[in-house]
Amino acid sequence: MRKGILLAGGLGTRLFPITQVVCKQLLPVYDKPMVYYPLCTLMQAGITEILLICTPTDLPLFKSLLHNGHQWGINIEFATQAKPKGLAQALIIAEHFLNGSPCAMILGDNLFYGHQLQHTLQSTNKISSATVFGYHVANPQAYGVIEFDKHNQVLSITEKPAKPKSNFAMPGLYFFDNKASYYAKQVFPSERGELEIVDVINQYLDNNNLQVNILGRGTAWLDTGTPDAMAEATQYIAAIEKRQGLKVSCPEEIAYSMGLIDQLQLKKLAKPLLKSGYGEYLLSLLNKNFPDEMD
Ligand code: G1P
Repeated sequence: MRKGILLAGGLGTRLFPITQVVCKQLLPVYDKPMVYYPLCTLMQAGITEILLICTPTDLPLFKSLLHNGHQWGINIEFATQAKPKGLAQALIIAEHFLNGSPCAMILGDNLFYGHQLQHTLQSTNKISSATVFGYHVANPQAYGVIEFDKHNQVLSITEKPAKPKSNFAMPGLYFFDNKASYYAKQVFPSERGELEIVDVINQYLDNNNLQVNILGRGTAWLDTGTPDAMAEATQYIAAIEKRQGLKVSCPEEIAYSMGLIDQLQLKKLAKPLLKSGYGEYLLSLLNKNFPDEMD
């Protein structure tokens, strides 16, 4: 069974002064805390054993928001990353939790939304080799960038290149087999002093054990690293939710629709949330039947 890692560390310096006291992943994206979105992505992939990694300072806050996950039919454990020494370090921190299992790691500031996304995530979860995603962006130099040959074979993956070889960025969602922690331990710090996730992924590439799945333009991948990106993500989620009357990345809804919690549990979760309208929404789900196409 694949386990999940949700990395919510880092200092969020690109958002200062907003994140001087409250960490980025606890800030709102429209009507819910940012961390709900990546957590829901893991849940949609069918992952129910999750390790959240954050700074020691933020640990009590995450615990009081998410508890042990049982209220949503999942299990959440917590670990800390004292200093932001890179995404690959999270795989080393998680080694004990993973205990030889394959994993999916998601970054706490990455938001995914789109038609059939749940289906894509679940089929990716079934594949035993490592899978990363490619997504066309206007500013690839801000991300890990994937270079393809004419036959769509991956030639290279480079972290924040000054001259990107394609427009395909690699979002912060990675599916690995059980070698991820081992590969992470082989990585040396980069020039910026971090253990780069790209150096883990390139080991999979060198061993011919990496799939790259392109997320089409019908999928939204948003990140929230700057004030503008935060505002855009909020506007995007607000527009979709108001138009459809459906929530994006609502953990209670996903838990209920996946059969992780029952009607009684959903009602109990709705009760303290009634004043904001969020609880009303949860109650409205009790009388609804969604066709499978609506994931
Ligand atoms: C990290 C990764 C990068 C990836 C990005 C996605 O960058 O290093 O490869 O494309 O997340 O959000 P960071 O945002 O930590 O600079």
